[in-house]
Amino acid sequence: MAAVEWKPLEDIKNGDVLAEDLYDGTSFKVLLSKGTRINEDILKNLEKREILWIPVEGKGEKLEKIRSSIDLDQELLKVEEPIAPGIRLSVPDEMYRGIITSFKDLSEELKVEGRINTETVEHTLAAVVDDLIIQENYVVNLFRKHVSGYLYKHGINTSILSVMIGSTLSMSRYHLIPLAKAALFHDVGLMFLKDPEYVDIGSLSDRDKLLQHTTIGYKILSSKGILQSREILDAVLEHHEKFDGTGIPFEKKGDDINFYARILQIADAYDSLTSTTTKALKLSPYQALKWILARSGKDYDPYVLNAFVKVVGMYPTGTKVKLNDGRIGTVMRTSGVGLLVPVLIIGDKILDLSKNKNTWIVSVIE
Ligand SMILES: [Fe+2]
Repeated sequence: MAAVEWKPLEDIKNGDVLAEDLYDGTSFKVLLSKGTRINEDILKNLEKREILWIPVEGKGEKLEKIRSSIDLDQELLKVEEPIAPGIRLSVPDEMYRGIITSFKDLSEELKVEGRINTETVEHTLAAVVDDLIIQENYVVNLFRKHVSGYLYKHGINTSILSVMIGSTLSMSRYHLIPLAKAALFHDVGLMFLKDPEYVDIGSLSDRDKLLQHTTIGYKILSSKGILQSREILDAVLEHHEKFDGTGIPFEKKGDDINFYARILQIADAYDSLTSTTTKALKLSPYQALKWILARSGKDYDPYVLNAFVKVVGMYPTGTKVKLNDGRIGTVMRTSGVGLLVPVLIIGDKILDLSKNKNTWIVSVIE
């Protein structure tokens, strides 16, 4: 019998065979049955549904082995496409790469016995927070083409975006640093989904096993002494709770959900929706924003969502828009004046719509 191997979607190839029934993330319906051969269309559909990991038949190689072969440092640091190429990044390139390296090293250490040293990660995260709190108008331009190391980059993007939201909510540095940490580590449990030490393999459905990453993450981070603060641990544990009380694991509602969790889950969604591992991008920044706004009060806290909209504006960085004079531009950032008058890049020129009363956006191209 073939062994079951959970693999990140980015590593699934045409022709791989599903080793277990796959459940829809929101209902309990079987999405694909065991034995299905994966093809391009199925992959696109899974991406659309934000399914990050699936079980396929393998030769029983250790997940560890697969991971170390794809997450080589050079692979990880390869230049990848940001949301809007040609526009400055949310944090300097070097800083971004610095966090990838320190976070990756720490994640590897997680598998080793005993407590581990988090100093380097803490240091790089503090530098990111310090860099972000002095910025006046944020440019939400993150690497979105995750060729490899999805979990690391997703953690970092979620962290950067969470700090932007937190800072817009006037949170102090004292709170932004733990928020950045919680966001960085929120999905760490996904790396341990196959580890029998943490997963109750016998009695649960596949969907429940996948969702266990919140409790696994919590257990690992607390046992290794990485996140000592109760608040941060709870944020990891509760990041799949929903504002209307239908989330996991506790079905907590509204303000009862950890505040850091309510922030990081919006950042989490935005990065997941705009990231891609294939050439065809799933959602444009504008579509991703609409997707998230449609879930205000259901999945997400409207108060936090309001701050998120202040960060990205109604036309997020990377949105291609048409102006009333026929010109086409790409949104760089909000102008800080209003949500509908962003700063654009047209060719090699910058146009601040808040300062040009005769020019406005008539439609979104993508
Ligand atoms: Fe998650």
